[in-house]
Amino acid sequence: MEIDYSTYNNKKNVFYITEKIIDSNNLYLKARKNEGRILTDKEVGILPNLNRFEWPFRIQSTQRIIDYISRKKRALAVLDIGCGNGWFSNKIAKIPNVNNVVGLDINKEELEQAASVFKSKYLKFVYADVFKTSSVFEAQFDIITLNGVVQYFENFSELITLLHSFLKPNGEIHIIDSPFYKTSEIKNAKESTKKYYTNLGVPEMAKHYHAHDKNLVANFDTLYTYKRNILHKMLGKKESPFSWYRFIKK
Ligand SMILES: C[S@@+](CC[C@H](N)C(=O)[O-])C[C@H]1O[C@@H](n2cnc3c(N)ncnc32)[C@H](O)[C@@H]1O
Repeated sequence: MEIDYSTYNNKKNVFYITEKIIDSNNLYLKARKNEGRILTDKEVGILPNLNRFEWPFRIQSTQRIIDYISRKKRALAVLDIGCGNGWFSNKIAKIPNVNNVVGLDINKEELEQAASVFKSKYLKFVYADVFKTSSVFEAQFDIITLNGVVQYFENFSELITLLHSFLKPNGEIHIIDSPFYKTSEIKNAKESTKKYYTNLGVPEMAKHYHAHDKNLVANFDTLYTYKRNILHKMLGKKESPFSWYRFIKK
């Protein structure tokens, strides 16, 4: 059965499926502000084509998955978990065979920006703690995207098990622009995170940024593997340093 959004509170074109503000979101926002990463509406509107931060490195990874989804020859419903300011949800909503995109986040400020910058009859922005949505999203989606997001979830396997229940038969979960580490690298990654957020003036945020082990995606398909290429580097090519993982529901 299709989701009836009219039953949810709608404030500034954001649908509230859960209402409770999650504490880590305030820390996340503070960190984003201190990093200077809160973007103007105009900047959000042109993403990923922004010549700052990591954006130049995200152009190719975005295009790769957009091309992949475009090649599917049937109407698709897509859930973009942790959509932030909505730029990626909007890109997906523009693909001709996609007729239903839900951008979901717990970041009210960015969701409101998303809903005001990107308007399409195929696109909805939803405030929800994904773990508290009960059965609302059960068997609703053909594709679920996690773009630069898994590091904000403590328990990766619990998340994937939940998202699995949101998929229709043969549905797919895609993870892009997200770091996974060799087991031997995790301790260092955690220390770097701690140092980073301490220097940023938001040390508590380190508890909400997680270094996940590569073994967790061992049974996923790898659709793109990052390989260092000296020639590309010399030519100034900007390539995402992250692999692209896909899980298909059997
Ligand atoms: C680095 S941002 C990525 C935003 C966007 N996907 C992109 O590629 O630019 C990570 C997002 O994950 C969201 N997030 C963290 N925990 C979440 C949760 N439990 N449910 C939904 N979103 C969450 C944050 O609020 C944030 O907007």
